[in-house]
Amino acid sequence: MKSLVSVNDLEVDEIREIFSLAENFKEVLKRPIKKVPVLSGKTIALLFVEPSTRTKVSFELAAKRLSADTINLPGSGISIAKGESLEDTALTLKELFVDCLIIRHSSEGAAKQISSLEIFPVINAGDGAREHPTQALLDAFVLTKKFNDLSSLKIAIIGDILHSRVARSDMQLFNKLGAKVSIVAPDTFLPEYLPDYVTLESELNNVLNEVDVLYFLRMQKERFKDEVLTGIYEYRERYALTKRKLEALKKDTVIMHPGPVNRGIELDPEVIYDDRSLILQQVRDGVATRMAVLTYVMTEGRSLLEVSN
Ligand code: NCD
Repeated sequence: MKSLVSVNDLEVDEIREIFSLAENFKEVLKRPIKKVPVLSGKTIALLFVEPSTRTKVSFELAAKRLSADTINLPGSGISIAKGESLEDTALTLKELFVDCLIIRHSSEGAAKQISSLEIFPVINAGDGAREHPTQALLDAFVLTKKFNDLSSLKIAIIGDILHSRVARSDMQLFNKLGAKVSIVAPDTFLPEYLPDYVTLESELNNVLNEVDVLYFLRMQKERFKDEVLTGIYEYRERYALTKRKLEALKKDTVIMHPGPVNRGIELDPEVIYDDRSLILQQVRDGVATRMAVLTYVMTEGRSLLEVSN
């Protein structure tokens, strides 16, 4: 049974297969009737225990565009609040004929725990600060569309790496696809361990005119255990992309961010909507990428490109 818990679950040829499916689904989404019967008759449950706008809407739309039925479990008000374990909730959903679970949870390893029951495919929509594989896939898909191939790219990931599941998934996937990845962050935002394929930079100014991709992260105050920040002013000076700093970028450098953006902290509002920003493209391509992932985990044994037309 296929699940998607970590970027590590995927080989490069599987990633390419997901991208070519996403490409097909991008076309479907341009049609007047944006729907294909790939998952008709299937039921997909969404359990989002942490806040989400774009990931949740994007997954739900993806499921609906594939003709699946969706069940939205609220983050609170379900039996977990009465003390039911996550496993028992999943087993109950299975008896209710749910065919796939998309889960976002504050606890690292939550998706893995459910997927190890092998009752239905599980998709990790973010587990604590650990992984967010579909964000990484959509980011790499957007970059593939823009640059054709990631293998010649220099990508800098900037900001709150410590609390970011996006950073952890992106680093692995970008590296897997051949890009050179650097991390730009103050010491207080660095995790204890970083993979040896990343290079470390302490100042954004050192990479501004060198890299092809500037990937900014939100400062995740809700995950701070201690007050790790010295000051927003200093952070902005050293790590934010301000309107003024845009001038230092190479001509073809692009700007990315998974959203939601802390306006005026990691990015100036003008930067979000600058011509070089791919932030809205990331949101748009999220649906096609998640349609591809759902198809990939839920249609085992069938020719994927055949089912997606
Ligand atoms: C991210 C997340 O929730 O991990 N957002 C997202 O999924 N688009 C990043 C964040 O919350 O900063």
